[in-house]
Amino acid sequence: MIHVEALRKTFMRGTVPHVVLDGIDLHVEAEQIVTVIGRSGSGKSTLLDCLMGLEQPTSGSIERKQGLKFGYVFQRPALLPWRTVAGNVGLPLVVAKIPKQRRREMVQDALNKVGLNYAAGLYPFQLSGGMAQRVAIARALVQDPDVLLLDEPFSALDPLLRENMNVNLLKLWQITRKTMVLVTHSIDEAVILSDRILLLEKGRFIQQFDIDLARPRGFDTFKTPQFAEWVRLIHAHLPEQPNLPRVVLEEPHELV
Ligand SMILES: Nc1ncnc2c1ncn2[C@@H]1O[C@H](COP(=O)(O)OP(=O)(O)O)[C@@H](O)[C@H]1O
Ligand SMILES: [Mg+2]
Repeated sequence: MIHVEALRKTFMRGTVPHVVLDGIDLHVEAEQIVTVIGRSGSGKSTLLDCLMGLEQPTSGSIERKQGLKFGYVFQRPALLPWRTVAGNVGLPLVVAKIPKQRRREMVQDALNKVGLNYAAGLYPFQLSGGMAQRVAIARALVQDPDVLLLDEPFSALDPLLRENMNVNLLKLWQITRKTMVLVTHSIDEAVILSDRILLLEKGRFIQQFDIDLARPRGFDTFKTPQFAEWVRLIHAHLPEQPNLPRVVLEEPHELV
């Protein structure tokens, strides 16, 4: 569905070229969930931007199936505060000049898929963080894209809610079989969702993990020994993080 070969992307820093992606090969087939993990600044968002065509590769090729449509879910839901949930989800349809009656059906369908039909008339300030992010997913789904790109979609949520959202996303996949390319910092999230996990480091994929956990997956999958084993294995392959500040512990001393 998407075939990336030898992708390089450099940005200019002043007059100095800065290499962000340095020879990426990536093949995503229909219905797969592929996840990219890697430290901050490793080029994950840039890769998604290139896949969607928001950024042009410096060299290399990206081949997409003819007419492939993308939906993008950002880290922050970025909802317009003066529009209702339905108004936000339907915004891409307004831009695309879809007639009102058809728009209404498409918005309902997208909200159904994320279990938020009851919230159609609410305003963003009335939503919890998890609901807002589901609205953002519905907005990305509303034009029935072939591929859903998700850039750290749940990183602002607390861990328990995050597991909930992961299971919701699995259910969504179960109904729609959407191809997904996900970026995350959470190893648990990567393992529960993915068919394949790619570890991005210094502009290249340095490891690949094919997650063979049976589908359908759900809350129970988190508790299986196979899940724990994958999480352990991936942790063991993470590169050291030399940039982290060292915590210096001082001898406790009396206050005078
Ligand atoms: N439009 C841009 N112009 C210049 N530099 C950029 C641009 N977008 C990203 N970068 C740089 O590319 C590197 C990778 O960024 P990004 O893809 O956002 O990383 P990640 O999503 O993994 O945190 C960073 O050093 C960032 O400063
Ligand atoms: Mg990013």
